Amino acid sequence: MSTELARERAVREAIKYLEGAEVIGVGTGSTVEKLINLMRESKELHNKCFLASSIDTALKLKRANFKVLNILSTDHIDVYVDSADKVDLNLNMIKGGGAALTMEKLLAYYSKLNIFIIDYSKLVKSFSSNDYVPVDVLPCAVNMFIRHLSTLGYECVIRTSGKGKYGPVVSDVGGVIVDVRLHEGLDLVKFNNMIRSQPGVIETGLFIGLSDIVLVGYEDGVEVLRGVRTSNS
Ligand code: A5P
Repeated sequence: MSTELARERAVREAIKYLEGAEVIGVGTGSTVEKLINLMRESKELHNKCFLASSIDTALKLKRANFKVLNILSTDHIDVYVDSADKVDLNLNMIKGGGAALTMEKLLAYYSKLNIFIIDYSKLVKSFSSNDYVPVDVLPCAVNMFIRHLSTLGYECVIRTSGKGKYGPVVSDVGGVIVDVRLHEGLDLVKFNNMIRSQPGVIETGLFIGLSDIVLVGYEDGVEVLRGVRTSNS
C-alpha cells in the first residue's frame, strides 16, 4: 500500500477543516509541505492568516503567497494543522523529527482546534524502546542534561544534521536537539513531566492530550480519530 497516496488523501481531508478558520497555525515537515502545495488550489485559503511553526514553514507559506503573521501580532489561533512522527492508540504523539517541536507545541497548545495528519504507517498500538523522544535543550545545559539522564538509565543522542552543517541540529528557538530513548512500557505522562522539569529543557516532542482530530490516511480512504483534549481544552 502506498503511504504517499494515503498521506495525500488525509491532507486533502484536513484542508476542509481549515476553510472556516481565520488564523491557522501550521506545523513543519514533509506532510506540511504537501499540505501547503495543495492549499494553493484553494482561493478561500488565500484570505486567511497563517502562523508558522518554523522558518522552513514560514518560507514555504510565503513562497505560495499566503499571508504569514508574526506571532507577536496575534493572541489566538483557530486551527492548528500538522503531522506527527508516530501516534499511539490514545492519540499521544511523538513529534520533532524536523526539530520544530517547541513552536509546534506552543501553537498546538493555544489553538482552539488541533488537526494532525498521518498515513497509516505512523499509527502504532503504543510507543516502545525503539522510539526516541526529541528534546529541545538550551545549549549551555546539554552536557549536564545528558549526564543526568544517563544516570537515570536513559540513552541520549545529540542530533546532528548529516550534511550542510557541522555539529548539533539547532532548533528554531536556539536549542540543541537531544533524542532520548524511551523505556519499554513507561508511563508517558510521568516521563514527560520528569524531562520537562529538568533545568535547561525548553520542550519535549511528546504531545499528550493535544489531539482533537487525527486524520489517518489509507490508500482507499481516511479514518477520523477523535481525541480527548486534556491539554488546554
Ligand atoms: C517537525 O518538527 C515534526 O514534528 C513533524 O511534524 C513530524 O516529524 C512529521 O514530519 P513528516 O511530515 O515529515 O513525517
